[in-house]
Amino acid sequence: MEEEAILSYLESHEEIADSGQFAAERGLDHDKVVNVIKSLHGYRYIDVQDIKRETWVLTEEGHTYAVAGSPEMQLFLAIPPEGISREELQKKLDPAIFKIGSSQAAKNKWLDMGKQISRKVQHAEDRVKNVLVQIKDGKDPEAEDVKALKTRKLIAPQIWKGYSVKKGPNYAPKRKKVATDLTRENMQRGDWKDLEFKEYNFCAKGQPAEGGHLHPLLKVSQQLKMIFLQMGFEEMPTNNFVESSFWNFDALFQPQQHPARDSHDTFFLRAPSTIKQLPEDYVERVKEIHESGGYGSRGYAYEWRRDEANKNLLRTHTTAVSSQMLYLLARNPFQSKKYFSIDRVFRNEAVDRTHLAEFHQIEGLVCDRGLTLGDLIGVLHDFFSRLGMSNLRFKPAYNPYTEPSMEIFSYHEGFKKWVEIGNSGMFRPEMLRPMGLPEDVRVIAWGLSLERPTMILYGIDNIRDLFGHKVDLGLIKRNPICRLGIA
Ligand code: PHE
Repeated sequence: MEEEAILSYLESHEEIADSGQFAAERGLDHDKVVNVIKSLHGYRYIDVQDIKRETWVLTEEGHTYAVAGSPEMQLFLAIPPEGISREELQKKLDPAIFKIGSSQAAKNKWLDMGKQISRKVQHAEDRVKNVLVQIKDGKDPEAEDVKALKTRKLIAPQIWKGYSVKKGPNYAPKRKKVATDLTRENMQRGDWKDLEFKEYNFCAKGQPAEGGHLHPLLKVSQQLKMIFLQMGFEEMPTNNFVESSFWNFDALFQPQQHPARDSHDTFFLRAPSTIKQLPEDYVERVKEIHESGGYGSRGYAYEWRRDEANKNLLRTHTTAVSSQMLYLLARNPFQSKKYFSIDRVFRNEAVDRTHLAEFHQIEGLVCDRGLTLGDLIGVLHDFFSRLGMSNLRFKPAYNPYTEPSMEIFSYHEGFKKWVEIGNSGMFRPEMLRPMGLPEDVRVIAWGLSLERPTMILYGIDNIRDLFGHKVDLGLIKRNPICRLGIA
């Protein structure tokens, strides 16, 4: 209705000077007219210009007087022709009405105010009410009245917005239906040739992007990465989840009968089930050290099998990458190195509230001549104090590839107890020497899970709330930033 009124009016008229007037003359709702104007303008059927006007609206008090009459008139009408005592009149009226009414009526010289109150004039005109009703009906009041009603707080200013409207470049007396999508059917029928398409609105605001939220694990991992980099460590390339048993176990002097190498603990790959290439001369030396030892070691005295070493698996620890990095290091003239990695590992474990079949490991290692256990303890203190854990204890432990090995504990102020936070050790000569590293080169290393500190930091007690298909997306969108080592 509004649209038809606007378009047909413009057919025979130059412009609609004022949308408010236009609406009022036709009994149309101005809000609806405005919506249609905006839509027609969007399609360039019309050109528009804003009109802003200051208008007046009744306050709550103004509304009551527009209905019941001004206080002065209410008071005036309450006075009988013979007059009335002040007390009697007061009883007849609301206290506020009496107060305002008597002062305004006095100002208007409607009353004789002695002991007795009586009318001074026969008839009075309730101008206040009349002007209020006028304003309510959208008519323009006179400046003098506006001033009076404004000081009495019976009206308040309001900005009125409307438009003046002219034909636009796409003007037509009736809106054409434009296509918004080019469909498969349009293509098949060929009617796309005759269709008129809606123009792109490059200024329209899009949906707010929903993506791009960092998971808590990524935030903690980023902080750890900064700590390693500040300590001068280089990141190892951990972008392969699939490794061979050789790099994951054999190179680390982990015997082939070791229970961790069972399919109950490790995910082996069906396809490709084996690795294609290994450095043959090094493989020979690893076989030798497992079977009969060397460099002062007796080895494990069993028959080492190549097909076992060839089996592909999902790496069970990032130490599978450390072994390759050390092997590469050993192939060149020796250089000391500090390496780290933070990435995913997999273990065939029963899933419960603290264990998943995949998790992330943080690993650091330092490779240099003549390092001692004291260096390891010193580096661990340095590293963990940067995470905010300066109270550490160590407990002897066992790893096939480190000797000595130490579990790391930290005193948790919140839990009021010592909690295990990592594992560490010095890589065995049985691992380093077959690689070709010089005899006096030692490697100190440690590893920890990323999930553990993340769960503590973010107050999550079930790992399935942190990782996996049951995670609440709200957590990903709203989790706070992470700063490690700030108490
Ligand atoms: N690889 C060990 C683990 O899986 C962690 C570790 C890394 C231990 C380096 C000692 C040295 O838990």
